[in-house]
Amino acid sequence: MISEKMEGALNNQISLEGYASFLYLAMASWCDNEGLEGCAEFMHRQSEEEREHMLKIFHYISDVDGFALTPQIKQPPHKFDSVQKMFKTVYAHEQKVTKSINDLLDIANKENDYSTLNFLQWYVEEQREEEALMRTILDRIKLIGDGPQSLYYIDKEVRSINKAAQAAEAAEAGNQG
Ligand code: FEO
Repeated sequence: MISEKMEGALNNQISLEGYASFLYLAMASWCDNEGLEGCAEFMHRQSEEEREHMLKIFHYISDVDGFALTPQIKQPPHKFDSVQKMFKTVYAHEQKVTKSINDLLDIANKENDYSTLNFLQWYVEEQREEEALMRTILDRIKLIGDGPQSLYYIDKEVRSINKAAQAAEAAEAGNQG
């Protein structure tokens, strides 16, 4: 059994993860349109991941006898000034998600809801990884430079970062299986 407050806060988190999934999907489309295929692949994978994050909470709420709600999701922006600004937006959104996960932990802690505290640990680790990944990309963009001549190299770099992230996910899935 879960408290109404905890259930409401987890349903809000579903919204935030769902918005992230749509935001990254919009970014994938923009990248495709700009000819940034490596970045588009990265964003498509991120978008899928966020959908999984959303569904994980959805199932958890049902598992603890709550009522999971499908979120109303506002349309995300679909144009971005530059690839650097786009990744800065991603990083800012991930920081917002991390804060929201911390707020959930706070509620679970106050309510002695050990099941939810335990469930949220996975998200704590996931957010640490996601923020680190975005910082790596922003650092590489800074090193390469963000002028029009650099786009080819930025895209190549993001493609290889995406391949490494994909391989890590496959290894993790293998360990769980
Ligand atoms: Fe599920 Fe990247 O926050």
